[in-house]
Amino acid sequence: QGLQRRVEAHLKEYLSYKAKTVKGSQDNLISRTSSNGSINNDEGLFEQPELSSQSKAAIEKLLWRRSVQLQTEQKAWQESSDGWRMLQLRKNLPAYKEKDAILNAISQNQVVIISGETGCGKTTQIPQFILESEIEYFRGATCSIICTQPRRISTMSVSERIATERGEKLGETVGYKVRLEGMKGRDTRLLFCTTGILLRRLLVDRNLKDVTHVIVDEIHERGMNEDFLLIVLKELLPRRPELRLILMSATLDANLFSSYFGGVPVVQIPGFTHPVHSFFLEDVLEKTGYRLTAENQIDDYGQERTWKSNKQFIRKRKSQIASAVEEALMSADFRNYSPQTRESMSYWNPDCMGFNLIEFLLLTICGNEKPGAVLVFMTGWDDISSLKDKLQANHLLGDPRRVLLLACHGSMASIEQKQIFEKPEPGVRKIVLATNMAETSITIDDVVFVIDCGKAKETSYDALNNTPCLLPAWISKVSAKQRRGRAGRVQPGECYHLYPRCVFNAFAEYQLPEILRTPLQSLCLQIKTLKLGSISEFLSKALQSPELLAVQNAIEYLKVIGALDEKENLTVLGRYLTMLPVEPKLGKMLILGSILNCLDPILTVVAGLSVRDPFLAPLDKKDLAEAAKAQFSRDHSDHFALVRAYEGWKVAEHELGGYEYCWKNFLSAQSMKAIDSLRREFLSLLKDTGLIDGNIVIYNAWSYDENLLRAVVCYGLYPGISSIVHNEKSFSLKTMEDGQVLLHSNSVNSRDSRIPFPWLVFNEKIKVNSVFLRDTTAVSDSILLLFGGSISKGDTDGHLKMLGGYLEFFMDPSMAEMYLNLRKELDELFQCK
Ligand code: CDP
Ligand code: MG
Repeated sequence: QGLQRRVEAHLKEYLSYKAKTVKGSQDNLISRTSSNGSINNDEGLFEQPELSSQSKAAIEKLLWRRSVQLQTEQKAWQESSDGWRMLQLRKNLPAYKEKDAILNAISQNQVVIISGETGCGKTTQIPQFILESEIEYFRGATCSIICTQPRRISTMSVSERIATERGEKLGETVGYKVRLEGMKGRDTRLLFCTTGILLRRLLVDRNLKDVTHVIVDEIHERGMNEDFLLIVLKELLPRRPELRLILMSATLDANLFSSYFGGVPVVQIPGFTHPVHSFFLEDVLEKTGYRLTAENQIDDYGQERTWKSNKQFIRKRKSQIASAVEEALMSADFRNYSPQTRESMSYWNPDCMGFNLIEFLLLTICGNEKPGAVLVFMTGWDDISSLKDKLQANHLLGDPRRVLLLACHGSMASIEQKQIFEKPEPGVRKIVLATNMAETSITIDDVVFVIDCGKAKETSYDALNNTPCLLPAWISKVSAKQRRGRAGRVQPGECYHLYPRCVFNAFAEYQLPEILRTPLQSLCLQIKTLKLGSISEFLSKALQSPELLAVQNAIEYLKVIGALDEKENLTVLGRYLTMLPVEPKLGKMLILGSILNCLDPILTVVAGLSVRDPFLAPLDKKDLAEAAKAQFSRDHSDHFALVRAYEGWKVAEHELGGYEYCWKNFLSAQSMKAIDSLRREFLSLLKDTGLIDGNIVIYNAWSYDENLLRAVVCYGLYPGISSIVHNEKSFSLKTMEDGQVLLHSNSVNSRDSRIPFPWLVFNEKIKVNSVFLRDTTAVSDSILLLFGGSISKGDTDGHLKMLGGYLEFFMDPSMAEMYLNLRKELDELFQCK
């Protein structure tokens, strides 16, 4: 009853606020998603007035003058001595030799596919060729070239590189735009952006008015956004006959894309790489020359050591690692493994064998091999940072002044980014720990050694049980070859594959495209927002269409959460959700958080779920880390633990950026900062959508109502719900789809033996061997009744019936009526009646 009163009070207040503003924001919402083409600016959203012929002529004159000016500036740079030197560097790239062929093909065809070895200069040169040629022909002020990248990091580093090659600062003719950041000015004619940014622009600018060239890079990666963008662009081409589309791909399968666009020309850039010698696991072992003996058992190596006293240790350590690997190999006869059981092979376990092997190889390379950078491919950010910490903590690689150990990831600072591309001082060994993004989107020239762990974390999606799995999976043969190729850029190189040859032979030829292995909810919403017709019909036009079952699951989910109505139309809620660039469940929390006036903590929850888990769990200090997290846990909720951790950080931030606080509490300072900036972004998005008052800076202070927060989290995460079944000493969990499930050990609720609530809502379930729930919050019956399920459908009776499936008790009729009334009020709000 207390909860009901509070919800009612908030609703009343909110409704009276909306009564004043809803008209305006509704109009705003409708005009933003309309297709009348009157809005063509991705952020300004201003209407373009109809111009008189006089002002049109004046504008044309101005543009012409600017074009002439740009041409003069470009020429001046090309004729300067710095410009000339830069040109010589560029001319060494294979892409440069194809410049004329490429420009010709583009001028004669609407769609052109360009394929060439990674590092041949596609990304840095081809957009630049187009820009240079446009400026040269006095179209500098009227051309608008957009080049998409699948990742933030390459978007930023490539645009900066091109600006340098053009002797400019970033944000002049070359700029970039990624989520949260951007650098572009009035003169920016070549814009690099992530694929997601271009998709968002299509929302408000369906015809890409004024855009002259669209370049889609790295299409071979077959990311979901890229595949989606290709369908949209393919439909757009007939409407914009003068628009040019250029697709760039690293590897072979150019024919697939060519035939998708009806047999368009493919320009091949011939590449050159030095030979790379491959070592597989068995060769690596041979290289060690050690044999398994009884005294060579692995010891604990958490002790402090200085690099000076390290030599003897290193020698001993090498033999230990070698023997442990050998033992693992002997215990597993690889030839008898089917691809499935191979997945569970124990030797590639980052806890022991994988790390040890990498460490061993790094030691060997640093100790005696020829100079050259080392590139290590690892499965994911967690592994990278724990290996980096491990290597650094004990100076395991020798004199720290002679080793430059770098990690390559999406959100790194730009100084770190530069270091990755730069040659280190002589005598210093550069070691870059990276994920599969260094396979094709980033080229580090001086790499001579590659260590390939053979796996990559990919999100795969099992449509049958509707559970996303995030497991390190074996890479494809193409990926393995790409990784190997990274070692032969400047001289003959070496590649160490940390798996036996027979495992490589069993790899799939190509990786499955993302659209076939991930849930499709956000994609479906995007299809609806862009008014692209029936979801399944649209997706059937993809390069490779997802399974019908996966599409149906996604549509069903969107109906359950109230984003689509029974006829598959976007509801008002659905329309609001597409304006928030987060998963639908997180969007729902932001919306209800706004309405129920508890936005501040909810911003933190949502931002926290959008970044890498800020709670660190270093393998060797797991207990300490868990204890640290437990301090923040008072409410049987991982989400609120995060809110508390963030609040603490916010206070500590004033002292040296809060690093000390993060260090003590096993928190990632980087994630904390990311949360901070995401919070600000979400707040301004919410203001844009008209859900909250534009004048408000901080919507609500820390004093929040805990039940209200549970309600908002439940509203977002439903139908991710499991029941808590208490036994004598502990409890077990059940979901409708999976039966018995387990809590991930990171969850604060996994430390409790009793939870005084009957339900847990969860953010994620992951199938490893059993199904594990991550990030949970406990909720009561009444919260589940009120906030579980969709509100906007208006089918309240149906909902209570559905909820009845979850609830094991029969509801008192007067209670039911109270809930019904409240839900109707919420209904009306969302339908904006
Ligand atoms: O796209 P593709 O793989 O064909 O090559 P690219 O990314 O255009 O790289 C061409 C050359 O530019 C390589 O030698 C890179 O090392 C270099 N590059 C750089 O020095 N700094 C960057 N930020 C990007 C590329
Ligand atoms: Mg590239």
